[in-house]
Amino acid sequence: MSELQALLEQARAEGLARIAEAEDLVSLNEARVRTLGRKAPLSQARSGLGKVDENERKVMGRLANEVQKELEAALQAKQEVFQAAELEQRWERERIDVTLPGAVPPLGALHPLTKTIWEIVDIFIGLGYSVAEGPEVELSLYNFDALNTPPAHPARSAQDTFYVDGAGEEVCLRTQTSPMQMRIMETEAPPIYVVVPGRVYRREAEDATHTSQFAQIEGLAVDEGITMGDLKGSLSAFARAIFGGDLDVRLRPHYFPFTEPSAELDVQCFVCRGSGSGCRMCKGEGWIEVLGCGMVDPALFEWAGHDPERYSGFAFGMGVERIAALAHGVSDIRYFYDNDLRFLSQFRGIA
Ligand code: DAH
Repeated sequence: MSELQALLEQARAEGLARIAEAEDLVSLNEARVRTLGRKAPLSQARSGLGKVDENERKVMGRLANEVQKELEAALQAKQEVFQAAELEQRWERERIDVTLPGAVPPLGALHPLTKTIWEIVDIFIGLGYSVAEGPEVELSLYNFDALNTPPAHPARSAQDTFYVDGAGEEVCLRTQTSPMQMRIMETEAPPIYVVVPGRVYRREAEDATHTSQFAQIEGLAVDEGITMGDLKGSLSAFARAIFGGDLDVRLRPHYFPFTEPSAELDVQCFVCRGSGSGCRMCKGEGWIEVLGCGMVDPALFEWAGHDPERYSGFAFGMGVERIAALAHGVSDIRYFYDNDLRFLSQFRGIA
């Protein structure tokens, strides 16, 4: 074997060994430079080709090409192995399961007071009532005077409110949804069956059961031959729908300027079921006050232009925060307005 042939065979053997040793694409690249690069044994051997005679040069030239091709093929094969492995790893890393549910963004929910309003309104829609809304900035005329509450009436100072510059007319933030009784009766002829949800305002020292703005739902039923029995039947149906079907209700005499007679509707305490003893919910009473109500005072019909001899009716008004607090065991109605998600999110699933 000639010296040149020995060099070429050595270049082949060393090159193949180096390629076989490479462990990744980086070390394979190094092996490529040291096997096929300018200073590699193969290139060195090639430079010896010029120094041998023509016959040997032909044979050795062919051998050099053969070695070169073999080394290139080995590099290529190894490179493909590494690339395939790398691709495999990347697939493993970046593998996604398109059948998995995506990232679900946190969904908002209705405010518990909104839900309570809808729930109450729904019950009355089921009893055949329609729904109306009225102005929060109201003439004192509707908020008080038309409701049998003239300026000197003590009930007027009990419901002190925020007054607005009314260009000659006394304008206030309404203290109750009751003025809508007059606005509706003024524009509509009986039969009237309507509920009015809305925000009301009062000058209050705020505490766990009082806020200076809150929500009420007013109700008005005016028709021929309406009696106190209708009032009790309708409001009992409502109280049972919202607090529980097996609870007793009672009417307790009370006073409101615009109803005669007037009453408060109590529902049997749904915690102690009326026994009262040691109950914190009803403070030992056995009963929980739900709303104010009464038979529409004939003076209101006259004010609105309806014949009090022909028509009679009942009205009621309830505080939404109070009902929501009772229904969900909330100890302080100010929580409803704090916008604390730890509180609000507890109502997310509640219908
Ligand atoms: N407006 C009364 C209040 O805010 C509640 C009320 C009582 C409304 C009796 C009525 C009613 O319609 O008949 O205290």
